[in-house]
Amino acid sequence: MYLGIDLGTSSVKAMLVDETFATVAVAHAGLTVQRPHPGWSEQAPADWITATESALDQLRASHGEALARLQGIGLSGHMHGGTLLDASDAVLRPCILWNDGRSGAQCDTLTGRADFHGIAGNLVMAGFTAPKLLWVAENEPEVFEKTAKVLLPKDYLRLWLTGEHVSEMSDAAGTLWLDTGKRDWSDTLLEATGFTRSQMPALVEGSDVSGRLRRELAERWGVPQVPVAGGAGDNAATACGMGVMRPGTGFLSLGTSGVLFAASDQYQPNTGDAVHTFCHAVPETWHQMGVILSATDSMTWLSEITGREVPELAGLVPERPEAPARVGFLPYLSGERTPLNDPDAAGAFVGLRRDVALPEMVQAVMEGVAFAFADCVRVLRKAGTEVEAAYAVGGGARSRAWLEIMAAATGLRLLVPAEGDFGAAFGAAKLAAAAATGATGPEVFAQPEVGAEIAPDAKLADLYAKKYEAYMRGYPATRDLA
Ligand code: XUL
Repeated sequence: MYLGIDLGTSSVKAMLVDETFATVAVAHAGLTVQRPHPGWSEQAPADWITATESALDQLRASHGEALARLQGIGLSGHMHGGTLLDASDAVLRPCILWNDGRSGAQCDTLTGRADFHGIAGNLVMAGFTAPKLLWVAENEPEVFEKTAKVLLPKDYLRLWLTGEHVSEMSDAAGTLWLDTGKRDWSDTLLEATGFTRSQMPALVEGSDVSGRLRRELAERWGVPQVPVAGGAGDNAATACGMGVMRPGTGFLSLGTSGVLFAASDQYQPNTGDAVHTFCHAVPETWHQMGVILSATDSMTWLSEITGREVPELAGLVPERPEAPARVGFLPYLSGERTPLNDPDAAGAFVGLRRDVALPEMVQAVMEGVAFAFADCVRVLRKAGTEVEAAYAVGGGARSRAWLEIMAAATGLRLLVPAEGDFGAAFGAAKLAAAAATGATGPEVFAQPEVGAEIAPDAKLADLYAKKYEAYMRGYPATRDLA
């Protein structure tokens, strides 16, 4: 048995799989995001532990016998968050999350201080760890001075699980302090942010062992003191679950954030248009991503302001839309990374008329998010990374209408896995198996069987090509309107 624990933005998910990677049990425990000021997004690290305890207690109660045969644990989590600890590992302030936009000014400062683009292989973007920590240094100097260690969210869970301060390459690359080509901390980039290597966790590969489960927790859950794998940031973990380890088929994740992910066996940074280049979770591999900040979160927002549940809203759109909505939508509700790199970008509905009703607004939201993905396809291609087919994963991929719209708007052939749950928790469980057995080939990271293939509908694709041109003009036209 292997256990994958994914620390997601809206819940912790624990997934138990057997040696053939068939699902044995899944447990969830919810999390909330605090937004104390516009553009801020934070979580209390103590809540991650409470949620993980709750998920594991559920598994113990429902599948105690299977859990007792556990051989390894793998971790995955939302990326870029900075968990600041004092010298006795006490948390100093809430964790500032990946979709927090407060650090725009600090991005400019850091870009001028050191060669982040050359060494880290990424633009300095708000939401990444380094600029957020410079914000803390400038605005909460008493917290910054006490900071003895900075841990990424899932690595804080690891500290609780194993007692070790350890990170792994895929998540560490999202701090902007990693020399992404050399897979080691960069003293130059740390110094530019006021840190030294001693404040960073030790580094392992995602498929390596990072420590062992503490005795106290092993006893509580009735499991052996199993190895805990390095694991991965949630996107690299999802890739591990889908067998996306080498160039070829990528994946498109329609989760809170939206990600178009392509693996590569070389370090090929290209910071143009805010393309992300990070390490993958197994040695000698990397990946590129386009990341949009509000994918299903755009639908969650519409659900909150209309008081209707998301599935009910999604059901208002025909499964095979025949024409674009007359309304346009810009999904920049939390600013945008790829391709704009603008934490202050804002969302918009355009083309409202007296006879526009909710179904058309919902379709417009689906289309706006699909065009944001079309932007990702366009800029990854410009950066030399071709993606023609992609596995479709994440909560939004449950809507057939959204997938039809997505395929037509992006030109991607979307592959829906036949059955099973291929999210980040599943990939984390696979990394647990890799760490426990030493195997990192297709015997662990196999690609799933394809259940449905959604090819772009030619007629709809033509209509969307025109609407996409208008979409691209939308951001510059509305940038300064509100
Ligand atoms: C990736 C990113 C998000 C988070 C949230 O760069 O910011 O995908 O990992 O899950």
